[in-house]
Amino acid sequence: MPSELSQIAPAKLNLALHVRRRRDDGYHDLETLFCFLGHGDRLTVQAADALSFEIIGPFANELAVDEDNLVLRAARLLAKHAGCAGKAHIVLEKNLPIASGIGGGSADAAAALRLLNRLWGLDWSLERLAKLGLALGADVPVCVYSRYCEAQGVGDVITFSAPILPDNTPILLVNPKQAVSTPAIFKGWDGIDKGALPEARSLTALQQEMRNDLTPSAVAICPEIAGILDALGDTDAELVRMSGSGATCFAVYADRATRDAAQRFLEARFPDYWTLASHTLNYDF
Ligand code: C5P
Repeated sequence: MPSELSQIAPAKLNLALHVRRRRDDGYHDLETLFCFLGHGDRLTVQAADALSFEIIGPFANELAVDEDNLVLRAARLLAKHAGCAGKAHIVLEKNLPIASGIGGGSADAAAALRLLNRLWGLDWSLERLAKLGLALGADVPVCVYSRYCEAQGVGDVITFSAPILPDNTPILLVNPKQAVSTPAIFKGWDGIDKGALPEARSLTALQQEMRNDLTPSAVAICPEIAGILDALGDTDAELVRMSGSGATCFAVYADRATRDAAQRFLEARFPDYWTLASHTLNYDF
């Protein structure tokens, strides 16, 4: 058995997020398109005598090492269901802002499931890990795969489809460094179904017929989002949108030079914000 394993926990984007219905359990039925990025947090697991956890990296101070952490919850859940002792030293390198709509905690939990599956020699399939991961959060199953997909239900009914954006499409992320509460933003949704995803799967359909229905309630809670969307709209972007429940917004560019020029423009306008020049990437975990 390997004694140390390490993997990226890729950031996710919701290219579109249509909210269809508030359910009796408080969750919402969605239709959403996910893609994954070449950047993310990084998780390392080592064989150890007990379960221990450490957070390092640029956003380490924003996150407490406590039992609520999704990584520890993932480890305990997997150990319980696999009937094993659940021992490991886990190191999370937190590179992404927390509570920012790009998957962070869900991607970290998904990486913990994938890596501990190997460290503990369980040999579970990704499907089985994804199914278990749903108990940790609606986005955990898609993050287990980190492959371009569409999701319905609360985000757990997953269909893999051909990516609208091919691998290495340049993407710029901008976050105002304000954590936003996903439950509060879903609560602020106006309850009006604005329609299903269209049939067409193209950049034009993405631009013209798809939306993120959580944008208005996210802007109401974090008005800086409107300023970011405006500024990204002033660049040569193919698509500008908020991801998930925000506050991270993203823009898609035809080439890296245009993306990098947009990053300089955004950094000059918002010197205190977090930006990341990245690209789409499908993983084969
Ligand atoms: O599942 P997860 O813990 O990521 O969801 C966080 C919160 O976001 C939920 O407690 C719920 O308030 C809201 N949510 C929702 N509908 C979804 C997904 C999340 O209302 N489909």
